[in-house]
Amino acid sequence: MVNRATGRTVRAVLPVHLYGHPVDLDAFLDVAARWPVALVEDSAESLGARYKGRAVGVAGLAGCLSFNGNKIVTAGGGGMLLTNDAAVAERARSLTTHARADATEWIHREVGYNYRLTNLQAALGVAQLEQLGAFVEAKRRTADAYAAAVAAFEGVEPFVEQPWARSTYWMFSVLLDPRRFGAAREVVRAANADGIGFRPLWYPLHRQPVFAGRQAYRIEIADDLHARGVSLPCSVGITPEERARVVAFLADARR
Ligand SMILES: Cc1ncc(COP(=O)(O)O)c(C=O)c1O
Repeated sequence: MVNRATGRTVRAVLPVHLYGHPVDLDAFLDVAARWPVALVEDSAESLGARYKGRAVGVAGLAGCLSFNGNKIVTAGGGGMLLTNDAAVAERARSLTTHARADATEWIHREVGYNYRLTNLQAALGVAQLEQLGAFVEAKRRTADAYAAAVAAFEGVEPFVEQPWARSTYWMFSVLLDPRRFGAAREVVRAANADGIGFRPLWYPLHRQPVFAGRQAYRIEIADDLHARGVSLPCSVGITPEERARVVAFLADARR
């Protein structure tokens, strides 16, 4: 499989499970079954989510998780590679551990990295992982509460779970009708000025200055989502009173 524009071989497809909601993976699995490409799932935002009953991150050759401070469970930083392939696991262990070909003499046949979690971070991560189920339930309760509260608002469209998905609702997000709310970025700015942590949806990668001029293929939907989308405050510990303040802000922000 070759990129027609560059002539380079396509070696992997990388679906990204965003905002706690799984990607519809079957189309990607189909591509990976028919072509010599690896399926690598970026599950950094969606640990705990399920696609057709199965945890995300394990459908293809590899998956990756993030334990960054903003994720549903954290080790302070760092992450994890998931794979069922013994050779990939072995190679990853080697590269993350300085690529030592000899454990006693530390002989290197290639350049490796120091990409491991420390034991202290891992201990924190394990304790956090034990709470993953409870954290997901808390996120889902917040999503239900927000969805119920905004159901009556014209011009607010929550991201909903697809039939094949179990979302963690890591970041509960909505699309705002610009005719009722104006530009999403202005709503975010006003909320932040009020001390309420609204966030814009992720800045589209093909718009990032660092990728200016890079190849991007028929990207139309991301720009529209970015223009209309906001993520609402939804920490695991958010209180009903705090949610009510968010909903009241949204009600006031309507024209
Ligand atoms: C989708 C996605 N992929 C990758 C990353 C990178 O993870 P890390 O911050 O652990 O490097 C993040 C977030 O940080 C993410 O949201």
